[in-house]
Amino acid sequence: MELPPEIGEVLLTEEMIRDKIRELAKRITDDYRDRDLLLVGVLKGAFILMSDLAREISLPLEFDFMAVSSYGSATRTSGVVRILKDLDFEISGRHVLLVEDIIDSGLTLLYLLKYLQTRTPASLEVCALMRKEGIQKVALDVRYEGFEIPARFVVGYGLDYRQKYRNLPYVAVMREEPPHSG
Ligand code: PRP
Repeated sequence: MELPPEIGEVLLTEEMIRDKIRELAKRITDDYRDRDLLLVGVLKGAFILMSDLAREISLPLEFDFMAVSSYGSATRTSGVVRILKDLDFEISGRHVLLVEDIIDSGLTLLYLLKYLQTRTPASLEVCALMRKEGIQKVALDVRYEGFEIPARFVVGYGLDYRQKYRNLPYVAVMREEPPHSG
């Protein structure tokens, strides 16, 4: 794919992402071998990861999705997330693996974990491809973590700048780093 001019340094190449997803998927396959696995993806960012990860997991899993939206800048500090699309399925008694593309402040994930926990899943774990290093405001237990990346504005592999660049097959830094994401 041709590199758009506003796209800078590539942090994660296609190959790095592919190898990491295989590694994570293998662990997930081993860990959930005798369990009924439900992958829950957080839209929109996680849709590409969901697709690639699921095809590397050798288990008869099921999918569900949630769509969430921040209330703007206040959310970045309050952690309140607006649920745009809730789960289609009941998760009580199910083994749920929440799939996220990136953990930034960690507030979205913290909110979702608390929300899902109230629905009494048999287990609830997290798979996140990226975590920005050193900026989480909350402690999170992420069982399947792909990469720690610098706390810069990145796009690609599901991540957007004004809804663009989600389809880049790699993760790269924006040349002019915007003051806010989304
Ligand atoms: C991104 C990402 C996570 C969240 C992480 O989603 O997909 O869900 O931000 O940020 P946090 O750790 O600071 O809470 P975004 O709100 O940009 O929506 P999108 O996935 O639809 O792009």
